[in-house]
Amino acid sequence: MMSSFWSIWITVLTIVVIAGCFILLRLVSKNNTGIDEGESMGHSFDGIEEINNPLPKWWSYMFYLTIVFGVIYLALYPGLGNYKGLLGWSSSNQSIGTEHGIKADSAAATELAEKEGRWVQYDKEVEKAAAKYSPIFEAYLATPLEELVKNEEALKVGGRLFLQNCSQCHGSDARGSKGFPNLTDDAWLYGGELATIKTTIMNGRHGMMPPKGGLPIEDSELKGLAEYVVKLSGREHDEALAAQGQGSFMKGCFACHGMDGTGNKFMGAPNLTDSAWLYGGSRGVIIESIKNGRSGVMPAWKDVLGEEKVHVISAYVYSLSHQ
Ligand code: HEC
Ligand code: HEC
Repeated sequence: MMSSFWSIWITVLTIVVIAGCFILLRLVSKNNTGIDEGESMGHSFDGIEEINNPLPKWWSYMFYLTIVFGVIYLALYPGLGNYKGLLGWSSSNQSIGTEHGIKADSAAATELAEKEGRWVQYDKEVEKAAAKYSPIFEAYLATPLEELVKNEEALKVGGRLFLQNCSQCHGSDARGSKGFPNLTDDAWLYGGELATIKTTIMNGRHGMMPPKGGLPIEDSELKGLAEYVVKLSGREHDEALAAQGQGSFMKGCFACHGMDGTGNKFMGAPNLTDSAWLYGGSRGVIIESIKNGRSGVMPAWKDVLGEEKVHVISAYVYSLSHQ
């Protein structure tokens, strides 16, 4: 909130400027030159003479009109320092939030604005958009996902929602990056079935591996473990080192990643036998993953977007790996 000094400063400055304009306009519309209208002012430039003509009437009326407009505008809308305006209008409920020490643009701020009868432009527009689009989204929600994935129009809407909400982490092509899974392949941390994808987006996920899997593993065992993981993913490896690593793996890595290393979708433990890597498949990065553990968080969208939109996005995400 603006301090009262700046509020007064802006108010006084605005009023002085408007009053100044008015006085200036009055002064110049009076003939105070001592020379009659239509007579020469006494200078000439290259044979062009300056004649004492008053401002055209329509011209000065325009100026008066702008002043009147300005005064009415300032009375109705906020603008003069902390003054809120007779209409109670505001562009968003941000200011209402801060006035009352609650979170700006939150549901609580909107509720308060309604209670105070304030006219919040942002809320009106959100309401209008909701009235226009909610029947469309309700129809989508009523369509089973198996049907929705065949609806080109719905997939386009889902794609736009994805760009707005998901691309900052998963990439605009949904191919992900280090720590953010690729959603276009068929390697899934939690599962690629329609219902599972929707559950993931609705409630979010937290993939959690404690340092060294929380197991009694020495730093000297890390190289062997990484070699074993490389072996699991079917690449060239040092057999003796990998055998050592397998011994360490049996201390408990299997509890999450499975005996055969193919992972566990209930806890989002990645499959270590394929070529898809969440953090990276080089020996160096694998050692880093094991040594420090990993903790990837996928936010929940149920309360942010609502189920209707999550439903449509789920169909879109599914379509990415099922062309
Ligand atoms: C703040 C970053 C972030 C945003 C934004 C985000 N995600 Fe994620 N998402 C992640 C992370 C990190 C994971 C992996 C979680 C883990 O490591 O367990 C993930 C996982 C997923 C998965 C599970 C993939 C699998 O292999 O099982 C899906 C599906 C998904 N996100 C879809 C979305 C959609 C759709 C949106 C937009 C509505 C979205 N995400 C927005 C970070 C994000
Ligand atoms: C408590 C369960 C748990 C245990 C025990 C565990 N992990 Fe993990 N591990 C996970 C989870 C969950 C992830 C994914 C973390 C994320 O989503 O950010 C992961 C990630 C990894 C990754 C990264 C994979 C990638 O795609 O980048 C490697 C490598 C790995 N674990 C190896 C191991 C090894 C080796 C052990 C034994 C020392 C081990 N894990 C023990 C749960 C576990």
